[in-house]
Amino acid sequence: MCDITRMRSDHFEAVTNAQTESELEEARLRAMGRKGEISQRLRSLGGMDPEERKRQAPALNALKSDLQKAIARRKQELADQALAELISKESADVTLPGRPRRRGTVHPVSQTIEEVSAIFADMGFGIAEGPEIETDWHNFDALNIPPDHPARQEHDTFFVRNRDPGRQHPNVLRTHTSPVQIRALTAQGAPIRVIAPGRVYRCDYDQTHTPMFHQVEGLAIDRDITMANLKWVLEEFCRAYFEVEQAELRFRASHFPFTEPSAEVDLRCSWKDGRLTVGEGDDWMEILGSGMVHPKVLEACDVDTDIYQGFAFGIGIDRLAMLKYGIPDLRDFFDSNLQWLEHYGFSPLDVPALHSGLSR
Ligand code: DAH
Repeated sequence: MCDITRMRSDHFEAVTNAQTESELEEARLRAMGRKGEISQRLRSLGGMDPEERKRQAPALNALKSDLQKAIARRKQELADQALAELISKESADVTLPGRPRRRGTVHPVSQTIEEVSAIFADMGFGIAEGPEIETDWHNFDALNIPPDHPARQEHDTFFVRNRDPGRQHPNVLRTHTSPVQIRALTAQGAPIRVIAPGRVYRCDYDQTHTPMFHQVEGLAIDRDITMANLKWVLEEFCRAYFEVEQAELRFRASHFPFTEPSAEVDLRCSWKDGRLTVGEGDDWMEILGSGMVHPKVLEACDVDTDIYQGFAFGIGIDRLAMLKYGIPDLRDFFDSNLQWLEHYGFSPLDVPALHSGLSR
């Protein structure tokens, strides 16, 4: 009997001291495996005389069952311990400051849109938006470009299948931001002063053309707006954008269906050793198209042309970015090259504002 007491204390001790699942399994096998001490003793019951068997059998069976329970308990304890350790190791301290491994940068196109928006916001222009998939009415007809107009061909339009059975015309990927003039005017009416920066699409690809690029549209309609206002606004814009004291503009007569009269605008500049200087020099660089909004455009938006008139302009944003930041190839803008983005990108924390300097 005292032999069984010794067995109990030995095996219980082994189970309690097991520190890992495999140690616990070893202890179990030593007691109750095929060659384990308790198993062997149970097997030997058959050869005992009945009296002895009567004394030992209940004690051995009780020992076996108690030990099984102890093993199950210990197993659970070890699993709980392991989990607690894992949790304490993996817990995240949410009060720690972030430590970004790689800092993202603001793309030069986004930076330029921010800068342009800040400048025009300062002059009282709101921001208007329109869809990139446009109806051909907004993109062309309402802008005084009827179906047979040669300007339609010049736009290298991407057409989008129109699934609306009620409409015969295809939609288009907008070829310019000018349709936002139509949407803003129809929605808000006159007077209005907005710019509309955004993506536009044309089927074209070389060093200075990509199938997707960016423009910013400007529109100001009121009772007494003239080309003089247009000129002042654009000069102010160029001064602020290129961060120079003086910007001199030259208006060249041109033609756009949606403006009359129309002007292409050149900026006085000089190029020395591949570097651009704005505001002085003997060169002129074309930077945008503009004009007085054509009465037909105003009529398409139900604006009373006896009362209201105004100007519009369209600027290529990508080219503005290339000029200011010395980026030679337009296609690099859209290559997602991380090295390029790190070199030409801007800090996300330096939001462009006129009072603190546009680009720092
Ligand atoms: N929509 C023209 C283009 O994409 C640019 C433009 C020219 C816009 C003159 C205007 C404007 O608003 O008045 O080429």
